[in-house]
Amino acid sequence: MKRDGWTSASIGATAIVFVVSAVVGFILLPLAQPHLGLTGLWDAICSAAGVVSRPSPAVEAPQKGTTVVMTPNMLASADAQSIGRGATLAHQCAICHGPAGISRADSPTLSGQFAPAIYKQLKDFKTGARVNAVMSPFVVNLSEQDMVDISVYYAYLPRLPSPWRTQDRPAPKIVASGAPLRGIAPCGSCHGDLDHKVGSPWLGGQSAGYFRGQLRNFASADRHNDINEQMRTIARRMTPEEIDEAALYYSGEAGPIQPLPR
Ligand code: HEC
Ligand code: HEC
Repeated sequence: MKRDGWTSASIGATAIVFVVSAVVGFILLPLAQPHLGLTGLWDAICSAAGVVSRPSPAVEAPQKGTTVVMTPNMLASADAQSIGRGATLAHQCAICHGPAGISRADSPTLSGQFAPAIYKQLKDFKTGARVNAVMSPFVVNLSEQDMVDISVYYAYLPRLPSPWRTQDRPAPKIVASGAPLRGIAPCGSCHGDLDHKVGSPWLGGQSAGYFRGQLRNFASADRHNDINEQMRTIARRMTPEEIDEAALYYSGEAGPIQPLPR
């Protein structure tokens, strides 16, 4: 069969139209859309053909949590030498935490605190799991041994007498029995008096302002160094009134709670 010029020309033209539209449809049009974020020719062809190869949009990096693993026997055997070194190192902390670890300002009281609880906080400040503009700079130069020595030193210092006992103040409901319907255990089941769980600090002797500040920070997750979100979960479920009641009770202050200076 003889092909005439028209047949050849129309086949040629069809082929050209096909190639041109393929180039336009599969390559030029996809590449002309910057929001697709295509990286090359093959990417463009795949995307036009409906093959999704792009990674899902970046998820926000999770907040940095603690790296400390608490064990029942940690820092259990403090020797006199370690306590002595801790006493020397603690001179640099006295301006805020008090010469005997009893803070008169708005920094937390450290005397008589459980050594593992102090160590954990120092470590968390060091890794950035807990951040505070005033406190964080003071852990930068502390070595692992420094943090251990400081912790056993403060733990060795005598506790303040529990102010809420001396005032004979009855524990508010949230402290005494928690809120079972909201999954809040009595505070003392972790923090002492009823039972002490490793890593839970002793709460007495803190100022009401500091205490309330920490609960608010847990609730907003500004403080997020608690293992398994134990305290964040509790603080989120507490009402502002319950937070104030607990803060006043543990601090032994009469109230109202003074806001912390920033
Ligand atoms: C300039 C004041 C300042 C100095 C100096 C300072 N701290 Fe602090 N520290 C603070 C403040 C304020 C906080 C509370 C931070 C917050 O609100 O999260 C704190 C918190 C802490 C905590 C956590 C306590 C808790 O109950 O959670 C520990 C432990 C601690 N400091 C130890 C130290 C040690 C050890 C030093 C010395 C090497 C030191 N601090 C030096 C102001 C200071
Ligand atoms: C399931 C155990 C558990 C219960 C129940 C609990 N806590 Fe805690 N709490 C913790 C732990 C663990 C931490 C230490 C978090 C960390 O590692 O930084 C903590 C920390 C805190 C702090 C910060 C102390 C400081 O010096 O920084 C406050 C304040 C506090 N809890 C208040 C309360 C109150 C008030 C209640 C009762 C309504 C309560 N907690 C019930 C486990 C508990």
